[in-house]
Amino acid sequence: MSWKAKPSATTDPVSLDVLADRDRAPGTPYVTDAMKASWTKDILPKYATSHGALMPILHDLQHAYRCIPYQAMIETANFLGIPPSEVLDTTSFYEEFHTEPVGRCVIGVCQSIACEVCGHQAIVDRIRNRLDLDPHETDDEGRYTLLLLECLGSCDTAPVALFNEELAEHLKVEEVDAILDEIDRVPIADLDRPAVRDIVRRHAITQGGRESGTGDGRSDLHD
Ligand code: FES
Repeated sequence: MSWKAKPSATTDPVSLDVLADRDRAPGTPYVTDAMKASWTKDILPKYATSHGALMPILHDLQHAYRCIPYQAMIETANFLGIPPSEVLDTTSFYEEFHTEPVGRCVIGVCQSIACEVCGHQAIVDRIRNRLDLDPHETDDEGRYTLLLLECLGSCDTAPVALFNEELAEHLKVEEVDAILDEIDRVPIADLDRPAVRDIVRRHAITQGGRESGTGDGRSDLHD
Protein backbone atom coordinates (compact mmCIF):
# COMPACT_ATOMS: atom_id res chain seq x y z
CA MET A 1 0.00 0.00 0.00
CA SER A 2 1.22 3.50 -0.69
CA TRP A 3 -0.01 6.81 0.58
CA LYS A 4 -0.37 9.82 -1.65
CA ALA A 5 -0.48 13.29 -0.14
CA LYS A 6 -3.18 15.51 -1.55
CA PRO A 7 -1.72 18.50 -3.39
CA SER A 8 -3.22 20.85 -0.83
CA ALA A 9 -1.31 19.11 1.94
CA THR A 10 1.87 20.66 0.64
CA THR A 11 0.51 23.73 -1.12
CA ASP A 12 -0.46 26.89 0.67
CA PRO A 13 -3.24 28.98 -0.79
CA VAL A 14 -0.96 31.76 -1.97
CA SER A 15 1.32 29.46 -3.96
CA LEU A 16 -1.71 28.12 -5.85
CA ASP A 17 -1.36 31.30 -7.89
CA VAL A 18 1.75 29.78 -9.43
CA LEU A 19 -0.35 26.94 -10.80
CA ALA A 20 -2.91 29.23 -12.41
CA ASP A 21 -3.36 29.11 -16.17
CA ARG A 22 -1.00 31.78 -17.45
CA ASP A 23 -1.92 31.15 -21.09
CA ARG A 24 -5.32 32.70 -20.59
CA ALA A 25 -5.56 36.31 -21.59
CA PRO A 26 -5.17 38.59 -18.57
CA GLY A 27 -8.49 39.73 -17.25
CA THR A 28 -10.43 36.85 -18.75
CA PRO A 29 -11.99 35.09 -15.80
CA TYR A 30 -13.30 31.56 -15.83
CA VAL A 31 -15.92 32.55 -13.29
CA THR A 32 -17.94 34.96 -15.37
CA ASP A 33 -20.41 37.55 -14.16
CA ALA A 34 -23.20 35.42 -15.61
CA MET A 35 -22.02 32.43 -13.59
CA LYS A 36 -21.83 34.48 -10.41
CA ALA A 37 -25.36 35.77 -10.97
CA SER A 38 -26.67 32.27 -11.63
CA TRP A 39 -24.89 30.75 -8.63
CA THR A 40 -26.08 33.57 -6.36
CA LYS A 41 -29.66 33.14 -7.49
CA ASP A 42 -29.94 29.37 -7.93
CA ILE A 43 -27.27 27.64 -5.86
CA LEU A 44 -26.26 29.66 -2.80
CA PRO A 45 -29.78 29.92 -1.33
CA LYS A 46 -30.01 26.11 -1.15
CA TYR A 47 -27.08 25.76 1.24
CA ALA A 48 -26.53 26.90 4.81
CA THR A 49 -22.82 27.57 4.17
CA SER A 50 -20.79 28.52 1.13
CA HIS A 51 -18.91 25.22 1.46
CA GLY A 52 -22.13 23.40 0.66
CA ALA A 53 -22.43 25.20 -2.65
CA LEU A 54 -18.99 24.14 -3.79
CA MET A 55 -19.95 20.83 -5.40
CA PRO A 56 -22.70 22.15 -7.70
CA ILE A 57 -20.48 25.06 -8.65
CA LEU A 58 -17.64 22.72 -9.55
CA HIS A 59 -20.04 20.69 -11.70
CA ASP A 60 -21.04 23.90 -13.45
CA LEU A 61 -17.41 24.76 -14.18
CA GLN A 62 -16.60 21.23 -15.35
CA HIS A 63 -19.53 21.32 -17.77
CA ALA A 64 -18.62 24.78 -19.02
CA TYR A 65 -14.91 24.22 -19.64
CA ARG A 66 -14.58 20.38 -19.65
CA CYS A 67 -12.08 20.92 -16.84
CA ILE A 68 -11.50 23.02 -13.73
CA PRO A 69 -8.21 24.86 -14.20
CA TYR A 70 -6.33 26.11 -11.17
CA GLN A 71 -7.21 29.69 -12.01
CA ALA A 72 -10.89 28.75 -11.91
CA MET A 73 -10.36 27.20 -8.47
CA ILE A 74 -8.88 30.44 -7.19
CA GLU A 75 -11.75 32.47 -8.65
CA THR A 76 -14.27 30.06 -7.15
CA ALA A 77 -12.60 30.33 -3.75
CA ASN A 78 -12.76 34.10 -3.97
CA PHE A 79 -16.42 33.96 -4.91
CA LEU A 80 -17.30 31.64 -2.03
CA GLY A 81 -14.95 33.23 0.48
CA ILE A 82 -13.18 29.98 1.27
CA PRO A 83 -9.49 29.00 1.01
CA PRO A 84 -8.35 27.90 -2.48
CA SER A 85 -6.82 24.80 -0.88
CA GLU A 86 -10.32 23.61 0.02
CA VAL A 87 -11.44 23.97 -3.58
CA LEU A 88 -8.37 22.04 -4.69
CA ASP A 89 -9.05 19.34 -2.09
CA THR A 90 -12.56 18.79 -3.39
CA THR A 91 -11.61 18.97 -7.05
CA SER A 92 -8.78 16.48 -6.68
CA PHE A 93 -10.84 14.07 -4.55
CA TYR A 94 -13.62 13.39 -7.05
CA GLU A 95 -12.91 11.52 -10.28
CA GLU A 96 -15.47 13.47 -12.27
CA PHE A 97 -13.51 16.70 -11.93
CA HIS A 98 -10.46 17.28 -14.13
CA THR A 99 -7.78 19.94 -14.19
CA GLU A 100 -7.03 19.33 -17.90
CA PRO A 101 -9.73 19.42 -20.62
CA VAL A 102 -11.41 16.09 -21.24
CA GLY A 103 -12.99 14.87 -24.47
CA ARG A 104 -16.54 15.68 -25.44
CA CYS A 105 -17.44 12.07 -24.70
CA VAL A 106 -15.97 10.88 -21.41
CA ILE A 107 -16.23 7.11 -21.06
CA GLY A 108 -15.82 5.86 -17.51
CA VAL A 109 -15.77 2.08 -17.14
CA CYS A 110 -16.34 0.72 -13.64
CA GLN A 111 -13.47 -1.51 -12.57
CA SER A 112 -14.67 -2.50 -9.10
CA ILE A 113 -15.37 -6.04 -8.03
CA ALA A 114 -18.90 -6.68 -9.35
CA CYS A 115 -18.09 -5.25 -12.76
CA GLU A 116 -14.75 -7.03 -12.81
CA VAL A 117 -16.49 -10.36 -12.18
CA CYS A 118 -19.08 -9.60 -14.86
CA GLY A 119 -16.57 -8.89 -17.61
CA HIS A 120 -15.48 -5.26 -17.44
CA GLN A 121 -12.09 -6.15 -18.94
CA ALA A 122 -13.58 -7.08 -22.31
CA ILE A 123 -15.31 -3.69 -22.36
CA VAL A 124 -12.13 -1.83 -21.47
CA ASP A 125 -10.08 -3.78 -24.01
CA ARG A 126 -12.54 -3.04 -26.81
CA ILE A 127 -12.60 0.69 -26.04
CA ARG A 128 -8.82 0.85 -25.72
CA ASN A 129 -8.31 -0.94 -29.02
CA ARG A 130 -10.90 1.08 -30.89
CA LEU A 131 -9.81 4.46 -29.62
CA ASP A 132 -6.11 3.71 -29.22
CA LEU A 133 -6.29 5.24 -25.76
CA ASP A 134 -4.95 4.12 -22.44
CA PRO A 135 -7.03 4.84 -19.35
CA HIS A 136 -7.03 8.52 -18.40
CA GLU A 137 -5.97 9.62 -21.87
CA THR A 138 -7.80 11.96 -24.26
CA ASP A 139 -7.46 11.69 -28.02
CA ASP A 140 -5.85 14.48 -30.01
CA GLU A 141 -9.17 15.56 -31.51
CA GLY A 142 -10.72 15.98 -28.07
CA ARG A 143 -13.56 13.60 -28.89
CA TYR A 144 -12.99 10.86 -26.31
CA THR A 145 -11.52 10.44 -22.84
CA LEU A 146 -11.27 6.97 -21.30
CA LEU A 147 -11.39 6.57 -17.53
CA LEU A 148 -11.43 3.62 -15.19
CA LEU A 149 -13.68 4.37 -12.23
CA GLU A 150 -14.43 2.76 -8.91
CA CYS A 151 -17.89 1.45 -8.03
CA LEU A 152 -20.63 3.51 -9.67
CA GLY A 153 -23.29 2.22 -7.28
CA SER A 154 -25.01 -0.02 -9.82
CA CYS A 155 -23.44 -3.38 -8.96
CA ASP A 156 -26.69 -5.26 -9.65
CA THR A 157 -26.53 -4.18 -13.29
CA ALA A 158 -22.83 -4.89 -13.82
CA PRO A 159 -20.87 -4.38 -15.93
CA VAL A 160 -21.58 -0.68 -16.26
CA ALA A 161 -19.97 2.35 -17.85
CA LEU A 162 -20.74 6.04 -17.93
CA PHE A 163 -20.84 7.85 -21.26
CA ASN A 164 -20.73 11.42 -20.03
CA GLU A 165 -23.46 11.17 -17.40
CA GLU A 166 -25.50 8.37 -18.96
CA LEU A 167 -25.01 5.03 -17.22
CA ALA A 168 -25.06 2.02 -19.55
CA GLU A 169 -26.07 -1.11 -17.64
CA HIS A 170 -25.38 -4.80 -18.33
CA LEU A 171 -23.09 -3.43 -20.99
CA LYS A 172 -21.91 -5.73 -23.78
CA VAL A 173 -19.02 -5.37 -26.20
CA GLU A 174 -21.30 -5.22 -29.21
CA GLU A 175 -23.19 -2.34 -27.58
CA VAL A 176 -19.94 -0.50 -27.06
CA ASP A 177 -19.26 -0.92 -30.78
CA ALA A 178 -22.70 0.37 -31.72
CA ILE A 179 -22.35 3.38 -29.43
CA LEU A 180 -18.87 4.28 -30.65
CA ASP A 181 -19.84 3.73 -34.30
CA GLU A 182 -22.57 6.31 -33.93
CA ILE A 183 -20.57 8.78 -31.88
CA ASP A 184 -17.77 8.58 -34.45
CA ARG A 185 -20.19 9.83 -37.11
CA VAL A 186 -21.23 12.95 -35.17
CA PRO A 187 -19.30 16.13 -36.09
CA ILE A 188 -17.31 17.03 -33.01
CA ALA A 189 -18.94 20.46 -32.77
CA ASP A 190 -22.32 18.72 -32.39
CA LEU A 191 -21.09 16.20 -29.83
CA ASP A 192 -22.72 17.66 -26.76
CA ARG A 193 -24.13 15.87 -23.72
CA PRO A 194 -27.66 15.35 -25.09
CA ALA A 195 -26.26 13.88 -28.31
CA VAL A 196 -24.18 11.32 -26.41
CA ARG A 197 -27.06 10.57 -24.06
CA ASP A 198 -29.47 9.84 -26.90
CA ILE A 199 -26.97 7.58 -28.64
CA VAL A 200 -26.30 5.57 -25.48
CA ARG A 201 -30.03 5.20 -24.83
CA ARG A 202 -30.52 3.82 -28.33
CA HIS A 203 -27.98 1.07 -27.91
CA ALA A 204 -27.81 0.13 -24.23
CA ILE A 205 -29.97 -0.33 -21.17
CA THR A 206 -30.08 2.93 -19.22
CA GLN A 207 -32.12 4.22 -16.34
CA GLY A 208 -32.74 7.44 -18.25
CA GLY A 209 -33.97 5.50 -21.27
CA ARG A 210 -36.47 3.58 -19.17
CA GLU A 211 -37.74 6.76 -17.51
CA SER A 212 -38.08 8.69 -20.75
CA GLY A 213 -39.74 5.80 -22.52
CA THR A 214 -37.20 5.76 -25.31
CA GLY A 215 -36.55 2.06 -24.74
CA ASP A 216 -33.23 0.40 -24.13
CA GLY A 217 -32.31 -0.51 -27.69
CA ARG A 218 -30.96 -3.89 -26.59
CA SER A 219 -33.49 -5.99 -28.46
CA ASP A 220 -32.15 -4.81 -31.81
CA LEU A 221 -28.73 -6.09 -30.93
CA HIS A 222 -29.58 -9.35 -29.24
CA ASP A 223 -32.60 -10.72 -31.04
S1 FES B 1 -18.79 -2.67 -8.95
FE1 FES B 1 -19.33 -1.67 -10.79
S2 FES B 1 -21.08 -0.54 -10.18
FE2 FES B 1 -20.43 -1.45 -8.34
